[in-house]
Amino acid sequence: MKQNISLKNYNTFGIDVKTKSFISIKSKKDLLEILDLIKNHSFRILGGGSNILLTKDFYGLTILMQNKGIRVLSESENEIIVEVQAGENWHEFVLWALERDYGGIENLALIPGSVGAAPIQNIGAYGVELKSVFHSCKVLDLESSSFKTFDKEACEFGYRTSIFKNLLKEKIIITSVNLRLQKKPHQTQTSYGSIQNEIKKRPLNIQNIAKAIISIRKSKLPDPKEIGNCGSFFKNPVITIQHFEKLLRTFPEIPHYPDKKNKVKVPAGWLIEKLGFKGKRYGNVGVHKKQALVLINYGQAEGKEVLELASKIQAQVLKVFMIKLEIEVTLM
Ligand code: EPU
Repeated sequence: MKQNISLKNYNTFGIDVKTKSFISIKSKKDLLEILDLIKNHSFRILGGGSNILLTKDFYGLTILMQNKGIRVLSESENEIIVEVQAGENWHEFVLWALERDYGGIENLALIPGSVGAAPIQNIGAYGVELKSVFHSCKVLDLESSSFKTFDKEACEFGYRTSIFKNLLKEKIIITSVNLRLQKKPHQTQTSYGSIQNEIKKRPLNIQNIAKAIISIRKSKLPDPKEIGNCGSFFKNPVITIQHFEKLLRTFPEIPHYPDKKNKVKVPAGWLIEKLGFKGKRYGNVGVHKKQALVLINYGQAEGKEVLELASKIQAQVLKVFMIKLEIEVTLM
């Protein structure tokens, strides 16, 4: 256990705040050994630190999940079920699956973060969400001090959300995730606009889909190793058809996707770009020049500066489009 260390290298936004105590967990046994400490202190779990914004020093215990391991649990003619420990890096796991020709997660290539964090926000990209391959996950339930299994339904997955972001926040720790991957023939998902153009250049297989996705992501999203960011800072808002039709009168070009009954999803990136924020810098923070949904840290930013910019954007979006933009990353 370390004391008073900076978390700058443990969050992709690169925010420099301190934690009072810090411990790295390599196995379930390590976790059980500190169970009393967890129960009696305020604590936080960190995976890849790629979906959080740290806003202040933390006077509790930060737990870094680093338990590793990938194991095939069962195999049939068409699919496998694989158990992945929470501390595995998500993209490295995607590469593991691609090497073995297991399909289902190729569209989720290059998403930063850890496997244990993936169910919390039901990671998604290019027409696929974790939910579509999720089988179950194992969690340590802090109230009963026992390990429990959550199946897909119990996780209450939604758009960038789950029960772990809501009712069970800080009540459980995800220790491993079981996924259901396909053997050949793969059912691929290439309907998302920008994939179609990229994929045309190569034969259709999961490896080439992943290549296309990696190339699109690299062209739009900043690499956190070079510039601090957390991917999409806001969720894409879902509005009523009536609201959307009203907006269409002033903004006939507004992109949109059908959502649940009588609802329409509009890209927050478009709204933010339309308001002129794209590529703008405000002191230590700014809006990424190639994707307006991504807020960036030019190096020395504090969490509160990012939040100030976020509030400025939210206020403008509300004023002009009458839409309340919801923050997607977890504020800590
Ligand atoms: N757009 C703009 N300007 C921008 C950005 C987007 O006009 O600066 C418009 C364009 O019309 C574009 C549309 O928004 O066609 C969609 O843009 P993009 O494909 O880049 O996706 P997104 O809706 O902005 C979402 C996810 C991303 C995910 C991509 C691809 C959310 C909050 N974000 O972004 O996820 O990679 O789709 O599937 O749903 C993340 O969650 O951190 C993340 C990066």
